Amino acid sequence: MELKTERLILREFALDDKHNLYKLFSEKFVSTYEHLQMKNISDVESYIKFHMENAKSSNRTHYYYVMELQKTREFIGSIGYSFVEETMINGISGWVMELEYYLLEEHWNKGYMTEALRKIISSAFEKDNILKIFAQCRKDNVKSENVMIKCGMYKSAKQPEHKMYNGVLKEPVRYELTADSYVRV
Ligand SMILES: CC(C)(COP(=O)(O)OP(=O)(O)OC[C@H]1O[C@@H](n2cnc3c(N)ncnc32)[C@H](O)[C@@H]1OP(=O)(O)O)[C@@H](O)C(=O)NCCC(=O)NCCS
Repeated sequence: MELKTERLILREFALDDKHNLYKLFSEKFVSTYEHLQMKNISDVESYIKFHMENAKSSNRTHYYYVMELQKTREFIGSIGYSFVEETMINGISGWVMELEYYLLEEHWNKGYMTEALRKIISSAFEKDNILKIFAQCRKDNVKSENVMIKCGMYKSAKQPEHKMYNGVLKEPVRYELTADSYVRV
């Protein structure tokens, strides 16, 4: 599946993305996320293959995309969401999904991630089995928090416990959105 925004193309992973994703996961602000610490290109290949297999599954749980500039098809980052748990809201049962988003630093401060996240949220809630979507980052990651706020997400009533980032204990902050309160784009 491919999604389009004003300036971006969001498309599913392909094996050819391995070098670009390795560069992204090696960026200093991304490499602090322990699940993205890839030792070499073959780790990235396994990561991509997992997502490609999952995308073909009838019980798909992960929706991850490469972000490209429409004009040049240049790789700039990655965004996606994955299944966390099932929930019940007002008698309706559905999924809770967690968002993740990562941008090459050379492309920060142009509004690309906010544009992509709005589209991803809208596309997620078009699937009728997704009831809630959330994202979390370190409290000192103000840029990430701002992106969530600009996409209409609100601070969760229950905040997560402190978490290890690259061996350092940090306070996370969690924002969320439910299916009845997002803006369709
Ligand atoms: C989180 C992250 C994606 C935020 O990047 P970002 O560049 O601030 O986000 P955007 O691409 O949405 O750009 C927004 C900024 O561009 C500015 N901007 C410039 N031109 C713009 C335009 N045409 N439209 C919208 N905003 C524009 C905005 O004012 C805003 O700046 P501000 O934060 O000073 O207010 C980036 O810091 C990152 O990848 N960090 C590492 C990974 C991470 O922490 N991920 C979150 C955990 S899941």
